[in-house]
Amino acid sequence: MDAEVFAEEKRLLDDLSNSLKNFGKERGKLIPILQMVQQKLSYLPDEAIQIVAAHLDLPASEVYGVATFYNQFRFNPPGKYPFKICLGTACHVKGGGIILENFERKLGIKDGETTVDREFSIERVACVGCCALAPVALLGETVHGHMAPSKVEGLFTRIQVEKEMAERQKKQNESSQ
Ligand code: FES
Repeated sequence: MDAEVFAEEKRLLDDLSNSLKNFGKERGKLIPILQMVQQKLSYLPDEAIQIVAAHLDLPASEVYGVATFYNQFRFNPPGKYPFKICLGTACHVKGGGIILENFERKLGIKDGETTVDREFSIERVACVGCCALAPVALLGETVHGHMAPSKVEGLFTRIQVEKEMAERQKKQNESSQ
């Protein structure tokens, strides 16, 4: 994982107890608290669940149980390159499932997971409103339509090229300082 990302996450976790002071300790505050945590960290790590449980004086298993009941909460961090694969009806009919499998095989992770280095994550989503382009995948907010296995490969190639260019640029900047 990128050291900066790790450091920022640690800082946010360290600061969580402070943020919780703005919330009461009643059980009814659990959902707003989980929403606040997810807004800050983009997901609910185990450590945050423990901190919230301690704040509300609840077992961590109960906090976890409530959080998993709502699909608004995620338990894996979004990758630096977050892929969303639409499996709404139109995309499903046009082979969205095969596209999802392509991403899963390429990255060695399953739907809802994130690679260990936090570079990539995969999430299946319901209709994103571009059915005419089915099957659809999103990288961040950018829609990629008429997806096919070759286009999945193409996306990874493009990311690789962009990374290499950014790396080269960084080195150039460093050597010119
Ligand atoms: S079903 Fe995929 S965009 Fe509508």
